Amino acid sequence: MDPDSFTPDREIWTPPGGPPQTDRIPAAVYETMGEDNIVAFTRAFYRRLAASKISHLFPKGERNLIKAADKSAAMNVFLFGGPHLYQQRHGPPRLRMRHMPFVIDEDARREWMRCFRETLQEATREYGMPAEHIPAVALFFDGFSRWMVNTRRD
Ligand code: HEM
Repeated sequence: MDPDSFTPDREIWTPPGGPPQTDRIPAAVYETMGEDNIVAFTRAFYRRLAASKISHLFPKGERNLIKAADKSAAMNVFLFGGPHLYQQRHGPPRLRMRHMPFVIDEDARREWMRCFRETLQEATREYGMPAEHIPAVALFFDGFSRWMVNTRRD
């Protein structure tokens, strides 16, 4: 999708708080995990999404799911304190705009965060995420995910 050419055909809701004001995730997270672990972490997260209440939002089939996960992993490399991998591969993030084609309400956000938190629970053991920084990662994604909500729940 070209984020500049997307015109939604439904009413878009904008969170009143505006963009997230959360602290950055300490770069030690990237430095300890490295890119391969971040990719593996993000694929595990996407597998949970594919089995979740919001699976309809994500691409079908293993290959397509991995492709989508790896795009998000490139962003996570950056968000965890590494190089601008997503920007190099895909251009400006404009994440709220890129999520506009998908109906994301507060229920969807909570389900997304449940999958994320479950993946965090195994992240130290499986992917070498430093345990002391897990609360900072959870807090960052909780704040950021609120900004991705674009549809008000009835
Ligand atoms: C509020 C809950 C969220 C939901 C329901 C959601 C859902 C989605 C969906 C459906 C896609 C498209 C998948 C595809 O077909 O390729 C996507 C892409 C993406 N999401 Fe989210 N997302 C959420 C929050 C977040 C957050 C908090 C971040 C990062 C801070 C994030 C980062 C990304 C990135 C980097 C992409 C790829 C964008 C692209 O290049 O097209 N998302 N998300």
